[in-house]
Amino acid sequence: MVILISGQGSNMEAVVKACAAEQWPARVSAVISNRPQAPGLALARAHGIATAVVDHTRYAQRADFDHALAAAIDTHQPDWVVLAGFMRVLGAPFVRRYEGRLLNIHPSLLPAFPGLHTHRRALAAGCALAGATVHFVSAELDHGPIVLQSAVPVLAGDTEASLAARVLATEHDIYPQALRRLIHGQLRLQEGLVLATDQQPRWCWAGQEAA
Ligand code: GRF
Repeated sequence: MVILISGQGSNMEAVVKACAAEQWPARVSAVISNRPQAPGLALARAHGIATAVVDHTRYAQRADFDHALAAAIDTHQPDWVVLAGFMRVLGAPFVRRYEGRLLNIHPSLLPAFPGLHTHRRALAAGCALAGATVHFVSAELDHGPIVLQSAVPVLAGDTEASLAARVLATEHDIYPQALRRLIHGQLRLQEGLVLATDQQPRWCWAGQEAA
């Protein structure tokens, strides 16, 4: 796996830890960031993982950035390319290049709230449930085949920050779970939909029952 990050890298670390603790037949070969200052880079190095930076500000054209990013990824010949808090939109040629092995985690119950500010928008819409989605990346932003979803409650008095923290905690559960099952062939992409061959659910609920 090669993991792409832009920030803290907490999802990346959750995957790295689960991969080691559960002895997946896989390893994280590299962590690549588009931001030189991403705190996740130091975290990856602390786990003994090679890191690289492909700084998007150095490329005037999106296609040139995508090309440089693909070159950095392909050095490692990964089976899986894992976007973990990677905050750049990738062009269609890039997405096609890694089709069927490019994954993302998004902090909403897709197809609700693609794009940014998901928690603010979920609160403004009065949602009783929020959550996170692991999905295959397709050319349309935050729209590819859904792998796993986890729902959390929206609680009275929630702020954007408190809801984000609750969702992030469940991201740390479902991203490793999704990758583990994909790597073991227990989840598979078939005709644009994800099939679970292990008879396990593709959703979970990470909250207390409503009063
Ligand atoms: C996560 O909520 C992810 O879903 C979103 O950005 C956050 C990144 O967190 N796109 P981290 O870098 O994995 O800690």
